Amino acid sequence: MELSDVQADLSEVLFTPEQIDDKLAELAAVVDADYAGRDPLLVGVLKGAVMVMADFSRHLKMQARMDWMAVSSYGSGTKSSGVVRILKDLDTDLHGRDVLIVEDIIDSGLTLSWLKQNLQSRGAASVEIVALLRKPEAAKVEVDVKYVGFDIPDEFVVGYGLDYDERYRNLRGVGVLAPHVYS
Ligand code: XMP
Ligand code: MG
Repeated sequence: MELSDVQADLSEVLFTPEQIDDKLAELAAVVDADYAGRDPLLVGVLKGAVMVMADFSRHLKMQARMDWMAVSSYGSGTKSSGVVRILKDLDTDLHGRDVLIVEDIIDSGLTLSWLKQNLQSRGAASVEIVALLRKPEAAKVEVDVKYVGFDIPDEFVVGYGLDYDERYRNLRGVGVLAPHVYS
């Protein structure tokens, strides 16, 4: 789905597919350099991070192992509940592993700060985060995110994996959802 296909549902286009891809290539180059000689495990957070994982990981020049987790901190609406539940856990033993969490967006930070601690407590050698988007004004807890694509305003965004009630995930770009869609 192209941005033009859902123009009426967006109040603003934030990032085109090209801008997203350029940014992920940039982040991948930094990660390649930072992890040279190591064997990191990319942990994708379902479902929103599917697109980021697919494109970011393919920009990497190093081998990238992948595993997936599904956690829930959101209902079907647009507000964070602050309660994190594991819906699907990893298949990989994290002992001594360098873990790189791959996320779509950091909003309140509640999900990622919980997840980072959870993975650290499993004996990982290191846990860092790569996230395409971050809403600095929405932060409720400090999370040290080493690799961030774009800082965005505190508005509900969709596309490139991000959904509203499971819609818009397959949109190639990212835009602000128009209020008339959810009110
Ligand atoms: P927190 O608040 O814990 O939330 O940092 C992280 C998760 O919440 C979802 N989220 C969004 N999903 N548009 C979305 O489609 C948004 O603007 C948005 N903000 C947060 C997302 O699943 C993320 O992993
Ligand atoms: Mg998510």
